[in-house]
This record gives sequence, structure tokens and C-alpha cells, in this order.
Amino acid sequence: MPQALTVRRLTRSYGSRKAVDALDLEVLEGDVYGFLGPNGAGKTTAMRCILGLIRRDEGEVTLLGDTDPVRQRRGVAAIIETPAFHDWMTARQNLMQAGWYGGLSGSSLDRAIARVLERVGLVDRADERTRGYSLGMRQRLAIARCLLGEPRMLFLDEPTNGLDPAGMKDMRDLVRSLAMHDGITVLVSSHLLAEVQAICNRVGIIDRGRMRAEGTVADLLKSADQPLYRVRCASAVALAEALPAESFTVESTDGDVLLVRTALPAEDLNRRAFELGFALSMLAPVERNLEDVFLEVLA
Ligand SMILES: Nc1ncnc2c1ncn2[C@@H]1O[C@H](COP(=O)(O)OP(=O)(O)O)[C@@H](O)[C@H]1O
Ligand SMILES: [Mg+2]
Repeated sequence: MPQALTVRRLTRSYGSRKAVDALDLEVLEGDVYGFLGPNGAGKTTAMRCILGLIRRDEGEVTLLGDTDPVRQRRGVAAIIETPAFHDWMTARQNLMQAGWYGGLSGSSLDRAIARVLERVGLVDRADERTRGYSLGMRQRLAIARCLLGEPRMLFLDEPTNGLDPAGMKDMRDLVRSLAMHDGITVLVSSHLLAEVQAICNRVGIIDRGRMRAEGTVADLLKSADQPLYRVRCASAVALAEALPAESFTVESTDGDVLLVRTALPAEDLNRRAFELGFALSMLAPVERNLEDVFLEVLA
């Protein structure tokens, strides 16, 4: 897949503090890329720099094959932090105005507005003033506004922040379908792991302005440490002492359950325990999730 976005050594300081510190990042066309990191990690600042909304101190950005900061905005749409509207106007009027700025008018604008309202599920509410809109509706309207320009790539900065669980699900479904159905490449930032795991195929984990791990969700889950097994044995403590430390690391013991880390296959662990005179009543791999990877990376 060709690259939609390549960022090299992007750096941006506020005073003496580096909010973004030599950040490398790669988004492929068709990705739903999860830009993951705790609050204050530098996600918003990095996105603003990438989009040319604030200056960067250093680094290179190639966006949709273009390094020119003006041209590269073509084909790109973004919602950074909380979207703003003219709240005395209706949603449709807000979209009209955005369309005029984007060079649309007349019946082609009317059709475009009907299309994007349908896409985000706001047809029934389009003629209400946005003053009365909920946060979830505002986010969807902001996405509708982005879609007016038929972007190839969309940047969403914590789009589910502050939404209730139903609103979060709507937003996840919408983001997924923009990628799957409309073929839009998406970069979505979040501090919520479950969310990123649910909708993203690739993930970058950022902390203190630096990229700490990047890859497909599957790769990240496979990477890092050796597999961990949950083992049940009546003489758990004795087994923990008997297992040779060069091949087996006992992470913890709790009653008759041990957590054992090893590069060897599960069969070898079972055989070794048997040879040492222990019978295992259970041996099961401990599934890792993105949260484990996240915590390991941030440790
Ligand atoms: N306008 C600003 N002025 C000074 N410091 C800022 C500004 N914006 C962000 N920062 C600082 O930069 C760091 C990264 O912030 P931000 O990019 O908002 O992180 P995130 O979006 O991951 O929560 C934080 O330490 C934050 O306090
Ligand atoms: Mg932010």
C-alpha cells in the first residue's frame, strides 16, 4: 500500500518543553490509524503540526504524496479538538456556508449537503439550530462538514471524547464505515485503548512527544515479551522453585495458580513439570491485549 502520510523527526516545543520530540509516523492508504497516547502525550500538537495549523520547529511531513504545505491540504480534512459552529444557524446553514467556502454552490451544494447529512445520520435534525445539538451530534455534523470536500484522508482528534457509550459506538461505526465503505484513510487519536483496538488496523503509541511503538494491532500484540502461561498445580510454590530459571520465569504465584513466561512451547512446560514430579491440572496461554502492550511500552 502507498503511504498516505510520512512524518520524519517532527519536533515542536512550547518554551523549553518539547511537546513533540523527533516524532516518526507512517500511515498507509486505507489505514484506520490509531494515534494512541495518554493525555498530554503530544497528539493534538503533532496533528496541528502535520496539518500546518501551527508551525513546526523541525521535521518533514509528506501528506498524500506532497511535501508542499499548501497543496498537501487538498484532499485532507480534519477535526481538531472540539468542532465549532455558528450556533445561531441551523446545521444545514452551517454546511451551506462551509460549502460556499469550499467553492460549491447551487444544486450541486444542495445535493452534497443531502448526501453528507444522510451519511452521518442527521437528516431529521438538519433544520434545527446547532445551539441545541448534543456533543455527539456536533461531532457527526463536523464529520459531515469534512465530507463536503470529499477528502481522501481524515484526521480526527479524540472524536469520542466526552460522548456517552451509545454516542461512542455511533462514532466508531461511522469512522469504520468511512474507511471501509468510502475508502477514506483515517488517522484517529485517542487515549482509550479499547476504542483503538476496536476500529484501527494500525497503531502508533506516543508518549512524551515520541513514538514508542508502531505497527499493526496484530504485530504489537505479538511483539514485546515471551508468551505467558497460566498454570494450575496443587504444589504451586514447589513447582515455582523447581522450574529451571534459564528457561522459565515465574511471574507470580497465587494459591495453586502460577504465571509462567517462557519462549518454549506449552508442551515443553508441561513435560518439564511432569519430569520434575508435578501434575498440572491446567495450562493455558494468557491472551495479551493492546492494553498490556500499551502499559509495557509506557513503562
Ligand atoms: N498552546 C500551548 N502552549 C503551551 N503548552 C502547550 C500548548 N499546547 C499543548 N501544550 C503542551 O504540550 C504537551 C502536549 O499537549 P497535547 O498535544 O495537547 O497532548 P495530547 O493531545 O496528547 O493530550 C502538553 O504538555 C501540553 O501541556
Ligand atoms: Mg489532545
